[in-house]
Order: sequence, then C-alpha cells, then structure tokens
Amino acid sequence: MSLIAPPTEDPGELFGHPQLWTDMATWHRRVAELRATHPVLAVERPEFEPFWVLTRHADVFAVSRDNDHWLNTTRSVLAPDAEWERLLATGLPVPKTLVHLDSEEHRLHRQVTNDWFKPAAVKHRQPRIDEIADVFVAKMRDLGGACDFARDISQPYTLRVIMDIYGVPEEDEALMMELTQGLFGSADPEFMGEAENPEAKMLESVMRFVQYFNGITEDRRACPTDDLASVIANGEVDGCPMGDLERLWYYIIVATAGHDTTSFALSGGMEALLREPDQLERLHLAPELAGNAAEEMIRWTSPVRHFMRYATQESEIHGATIPEGGRVLLSYPSANRDEEVFGDSMRFDINRPDADKLISFGLGAHFCLGSQFARREVRTMVAKLGEQLAHIELAGEPEWSASHFVSGVKHLPVTYAFN
Ligand code: HEM
Repeated sequence: MSLIAPPTEDPGELFGHPQLWTDMATWHRRVAELRATHPVLAVERPEFEPFWVLTRHADVFAVSRDNDHWLNTTRSVLAPDAEWERLLATGLPVPKTLVHLDSEEHRLHRQVTNDWFKPAAVKHRQPRIDEIADVFVAKMRDLGGACDFARDISQPYTLRVIMDIYGVPEEDEALMMELTQGLFGSADPEFMGEAENPEAKMLESVMRFVQYFNGITEDRRACPTDDLASVIANGEVDGCPMGDLERLWYYIIVATAGHDTTSFALSGGMEALLREPDQLERLHLAPELAGNAAEEMIRWTSPVRHFMRYATQESEIHGATIPEGGRVLLSYPSANRDEEVFGDSMRFDINRPDADKLISFGLGAHFCLGSQFARREVRTMVAKLGEQLAHIELAGEPEWSASHFVSGVKHLPVTYAFN
C-alpha cells in the first residue's frame, strides 16, 4: 500500500507528488504561473529537507553547465527523506550511477562507454534502428487497426533498440522492462505488483538486476563480444577494473535510462500529434519533417522530470540565497515551456523553429549520454508512420504514469489504417 498522502494546493507539491504528474495540462498551467512569479520556488514541506525549484530555462541551463559549483551527489533524484532512509535501511546499495558521480570520478567512468554514444557511432547503427522500427510497424499492421500505442509499440520498440546494443537477448526484454518500471515508476500502483510500498519495489528490482547482471559479467568476461555489456563488464577506470558496485550501477543506468524515457517521448509525442490533425497531415505529406517533429516531441514531453544539484558554496539566484550544501531541483518540463525561449511555448508545433533549444537532455558534464539514440529512435518511427499510415486517431483517453522522476503517457489507445 502506498503511504503517499493525497495532493494539496501547495505549489511545492507540483514537483514531488507522483499523482500530480498524471494530469499534465493542469501541471503545466500551474507551473506557467510559477515561472512568471517564482523563478526560484522555495519548497518547505514536512516530508523533504528544504529545496529550491528552478523553473526557467536560463537558470536550468546555467546551473546544469556549472559542474564546479553544482554537484550531483548520491541524492540526485528527489525522494521524501523518510523514504530515502527506509530505502537505505532495506540494504539497498547507495546509488553510484554516472548520474550520482561527480568531477574526475564521473569523467573517468563516463569515458568507459563514451565512444559508443558519439554521433558517428550511433549513426552507424541507423540500419539496425530501421530494422527494429520495421518490426514494430509490422506489428502495428498485424494488430489490425487498433492498439495501445504506448504499451504495444512505443515501449517494446525503444526497449529493443537499447537491449540490442546491450546484447541482452529478446527473451529477457520483458524482465528488463519490469525491473525498470519497478525502479522508476515504483510509486505507480500499476507497476508496484505485490510489493508493500515503492521502496520495497525498488529494492526488489535492484536485487533482481544484480542477479541478472552478475551473470552477464561472468559471461562477457569469459567470452567478450562486440556488445555494450562486454564494454561494461571489462571496463577499466584509471587502469584498474571498475569496482563491483560501480559496474552494477553502470549496467542499471544504461539498461534503464534508455527506454522508458524514449518511449514516453514517442508515446506522448504521438498523443500531442493526434490532437493536432493538421500537423499529422503535414507529416504525412512531408515525412522529412520527422527530424524537427522528433525534437518537438522530446521538448513537449520532457520525460525526465527533474534532477537535483547541490551548491558547493552559498549562491544567489534571482534574489534567493541557496546555502552551501543547499539543493535545487532542475525542472526540465517547466524550462521546456519557458516563454522567454520558445515562441508560443504552450503549443505543440512540429514546424517550430526553436525546437532545438530543448533542454530535455540536460546539459554540461552529465548531458544525456544516449541523446543521439533517443533522437534517432523517435525520428525513425515518426518518419515511418508518417509515410505508411493513411489515418490514425485517438480511441480513448490517454493515461499518464504517476511518477515525479521519469514519466509520461503509459497508455495511448488508437485506431488507424495503413496505406
Ligand atoms: C527522450 C529520451 C531521453 C531523455 C529525455 C533523457 C534525459 C536525460 C537527462 C535529463 C539526463 C541528465 C542530464 C543532466 O544531468 O544534465 C540524462 C542522463 C543520462 N542518460 Fe538520458 N535521456 C533519454 C534517453 C537516453 C537513452 C536512449 C540513453 C541510452 C542508454 C540514455 C542514457 C543516459 C545516461 C547513461 C545518463 C547519465 C549521464 C551522466 O550522468 O553522465 N538516455 N538523460
């Protein structure tokens, strides 16, 4: 059973209460008001140590790039203090993914896989992304004119692309999906399963990841292949094998960060497109718009809802004093609707000339490692559907997942016909 109390009218709750992420129209309306009046919102709630929310693009931009004065630390995702304590009490190893590392330690660990994610390397994989996208377009045809686009297409497609580079076999994809949802969406009752609370679900998911990836390490050390799992299994930092915990968390971040995020960008982007039939038609007539449409979908959906940064020294932003050690929440979805940066920012527009100013992937030392993959995956599927679908429309109300960290449209009922 979830211990989370129902939401209140306090604007501070907009960023931490899972339930408030299931109604994005209301969320964006309320946060637009905050952007105008509270570029730095001080949040003091009983369940959290105080924090400040940055709602504007320029501030999220500046703090993200200033990695000397703003650190990530082991608590780079917002969680109620009691939940964090309970999580540690369960015996969960303290998170040490790339996201949680700082400075030189971060740089050295990122180097282990960096070459895999460079534009040229990712471009090289385009034929494989095409092949996988074709499999899921064919699946959509086989489903005979009606499906849940999020569950049936978007999720399994983005999962397969990442698992393919990883070298995880198709038969293990369902397990990877279940564990990712257990880790990221554990507050959503749909993903909590039999667990008593979100912490129990997270612990269970991590322990099953440990078991799975220990097997992968053994295997790839004995017989390295050309997959990404082999790079991580044999990865060295400063001339020494990566530590066991760091390696485990490395597997987890790459296995989890890459598909739910991209899947929500695609499903939420499709939802926005379906509400704008003229834009859908434009895409149909000119599939070369798919690149800009993908950028706009990723701006619009902004599936990673926040990361935290900790001040290394007392800092002032718009008159608010953040003490040394104080923390700010970078609100990517809010920054992505900032009227100062995006013309008519609350409108979804695949022709938007400023779509490339999106900040959905963060910036600076932690800039999303997989952004090239995410962009290609969304663009590839959008182009194929734009070319091949004669018609598509909503067949029911979409449903959003209840999570304040990574979330988006989890069910998208559609009906459609192919050319
Ligand atoms: C639309 C899809 C995606 C979005 C919105 C997204 C967003 C983000 C954000 C906001 C960050 C943190 C950036 C910062 O702190 O400045 C991040 C980091 C990261 N992302 Fe993504 N991501 C997406 C897809 C992917 C994919 C496909 C992968 C592939 C494996 C991936 C792997 C990672 C990793 C490993 C990090 C940690 C980087 C570091 O801390 O150095 N992401 N992502």
